[in-house]
Amino acid sequence: MLQRSDGSGRLTRYRTSLRRLATRGRLRGLSARSGVDFSSNDYLGLAGDKRIAAALNAALSRGVPAGAGGSRLLRGNDPEHEMLEQEAAVYFGSETALYFGSGFMANYALLACLPQRDDLVVMDELIHASARDGANATKAAVAIARHNDPQSFADAISTWRKSGGRGRPWLVFESLYSMDGDRAPLDDLVSTADVNDGFLIVDEAHATGVFGPHGRGLAADFEGRDNVIVLHTCGKALGASGALICLPEVLAGYMINRSRPFIYATAPSPLMAAAVREALLIVEQEPERRKRLQRMMKQFGDGLTALGLPATDTQIHPVVIGDAEKTMSLATAMQDRGFDIRGIRPPTVPEGTSRLRISLTLNARQADVETLLEALGEKRELFDQ
Ligand SMILES: Cc1ncc(COP(=O)(O)O)c(C=O)c1O
Repeated sequence: MLQRSDGSGRLTRYRTSLRRLATRGRLRGLSARSGVDFSSNDYLGLAGDKRIAAALNAALSRGVPAGAGGSRLLRGNDPEHEMLEQEAAVYFGSETALYFGSGFMANYALLACLPQRDDLVVMDELIHASARDGANATKAAVAIARHNDPQSFADAISTWRKSGGRGRPWLVFESLYSMDGDRAPLDDLVSTADVNDGFLIVDEAHATGVFGPHGRGLAADFEGRDNVIVLHTCGKALGASGALICLPEVLAGYMINRSRPFIYATAPSPLMAAAVREALLIVEQEPERRKRLQRMMKQFGDGLTALGLPATDTQIHPVVIGDAEKTMSLATAMQDRGFDIRGIRPPTVPEGTSRLRISLTLNARQADVETLLEALGEKRELFDQ
C-alpha cells in the first residue's frame, strides 16, 4: 500500500535540510515561465521557431521514432544521430562528433573518461558544475586554476611535474562563462596546452551559435586539432537539447568503448537529433540573427555603462548585488514589473557574489531592453558597485 505519511521519520532529515536552506535564504523552487525573457539561454530565439517544429513534423512523417529504444551501442543507434554527427563535424570543423542527451552528461562523460591515471586535469575555478562532477569521477589528479588566468594553469602544471607528474595535462574551461559573461583567454590557454604537450576541453555552451564564424563558437579556429575537444550544447542558442562533443576520431572511439554515460544510457531521442540538424542549418544560414543579438548586446552594455554598472561584451550580464536575500527580492521586484530575471545565489556562484543574471535573447525586443534599463536605473542604489 502507498504510504504518504512519514510516521517513521524517514523523511525528517530531508525536511530539516530544506528548512536550513530556507533559513539561509537558499531554498530553491520551481516557478512558471512568465514575463519578457531576460533569463533563458535561447539566445537566438530558436526554441519556438516554426522551422524546427516543421523539421520535427517532417521527421515524424518519415518514421523517425520519438524514443531510441536503447543504448547507441545496442539497437538505439538511429540514422538521425549519425547524420547529425556527420553534419556537426563538417560544420564545426572537427574530425568527428558525438551526440549526448545533455551538456551536463557530455561534460561529465568527457572528464570522467578521457584523462588517464597519470594525467592532470586543471580546471578554471568558475567551471560549470558538470565538469566539476566529471572531475570528481576522473582517475587523473585535479587542480583548480584562478579564473581566466593562464599563468595559474601553467603554475598548476609545473607544480604537478615537479612532484613527479608524468602524464599529460588537460586544461578545462568555458569559452564564455555562463554566470559572468566574460570570455576565456583562449589563445594563451591553447599555447599553455601546446607548450606542455597537453589537451584542451573547451565548453562552448554559451558561445555556440552566437560567436565565431557562422556561429561556430569562439574556439572555431582551433577545432580539428588533435589536442582540442570542444563541447557544443544544443539546448541554448540552438534552441533544442543535447550536446555535441567535437573531437578526434580516436577519442570518439575511446568514448564509445569506455564512457559509461555513453554506453549505459538510452540514446537521445532521434527526433531531437532531427531538431538539432535543422537548428544548425538555421544558425549557419541566418547571420542576421547574430547581428541583431550583437546590436542588443551593445544597446544593453552602453545602458549599463551609463548607469555606472560594469558591462560585458557578450549576451550575459551579471548584475552583482552581493547579498543573497537582497538579490532574490530584487529579482522578484523585476519579475513583478514583467521581466523574467532570476537571482543566482551560492553555491552556483561564489559566496558574497549573488547576482541578477541578465541574458539577452531575440525573444526580447529593443524596446524591452530600454524599459529594463530604466527599471534597473530606479534600483541603482541597491547595486554594490
Ligand atoms: C557552461 C555550461 N556547460 C554545460 C552545461 C550543461 O548543458 P545542458 O543544459 O545541455 O545539460 C551548461 C548548462 O547550463 C552550462 O552553462
